[in-house]
Amino acid sequence: MQIVKTKTELGRILDGHRKSSETIGFVPTMGALHAGHLSLIAASKKVCSITVCSIFVNPTQFNDKSDLEKYPRMPEKDAEMLEKAGCDILFMPEVSEIYPKTDTRKFDFGYIDTVLEAAVRPGHFNGVAQVVSILFDMVKPDKAFFGQKDYQQVMIIRELIKQLKLKIEIVGCPILRDADGLAMSSRNLRLSKEERTAAALIPKVMLGAMQLKESGRNMGQIYAYVEKKLDPNPIYNLDYFAICEADTLKEVSSFEPGKAYIALIACFVGNIRLIDNLSLNSLS
Ligand code: PAJ
Repeated sequence: MQIVKTKTELGRILDGHRKSSETIGFVPTMGALHAGHLSLIAASKKVCSITVCSIFVNPTQFNDKSDLEKYPRMPEKDAEMLEKAGCDILFMPEVSEIYPKTDTRKFDFGYIDTVLEAAVRPGHFNGVAQVVSILFDMVKPDKAFFGQKDYQQVMIIRELIKQLKLKIEIVGCPILRDADGLAMSSRNLRLSKEERTAAALIPKVMLGAMQLKESGRNMGQIYAYVEKKLDPNPIYNLDYFAICEADTLKEVSSFEPGKAYIALIACFVGNIRLIDNLSLNSLS
């Protein structure tokens, strides 16, 4: 695996690969890697001849400076994991390489940038769009791989591609989960033992919600079930639970046959905010 720090070196290496008609797959990350990230590397390796992973803790997507400072950084361990996973190129730029000057671009993603995560973290997706568009310009991948764990982020990236008229295929990859169902996340490491055990209720509640939908319960009953499951234990603090149209993120009050729905949740377990989502269309 080649470790590259500058866009000039990255461009030189990738141009060489492009000349020999190799397809380039790209996995952008912020590091502190876990098996969920590595599943994106595996997805890229399956369909692309060269896989590039970036590790860059992007300052413009953090609304809280202390969150940015606290973000776990473990470049040596990450590099080792990527090497083992068969990643070809690791791009680890400095902030000045990505932002030689302040990026003042303001994107307009419309409704999807006003709800759920966007409502709680104003400016977050604008920062994501800034860094991803810069990285796309540097890597110029054929395909880019993103986790459905960040469902709304994938929608934003698809919209970004459309607006910038980029010819990059965005591949949404399934959520990798621990054995008890908890979606893998670098934040899970910050949970105490008790919180980690409690966190496993989140995916269970999501499955429960899906089963209620399958058995014909109405929306009110499903929302009440989720609240009732989480309410008795003060370790949980539900930020939002919403059932939305899968392709618009519009929250719905009833189900129509033939339409795709997704349940999304953000819930504090202790001080750690966890997110998860589940497509409500089948039990598979
Ligand atoms: P980060 O949180 O490091 O996540 C990098 C990628 O890994 C994202 O596409 C995310 O959805 C995916 N991922 C995280 N947990 C996963 C899991 N359990 N299963 C499958 N995929 C998972 O998302 C970001 O970084 C940043 O916003 C970024 C896109 C890199 C822009 O800075």
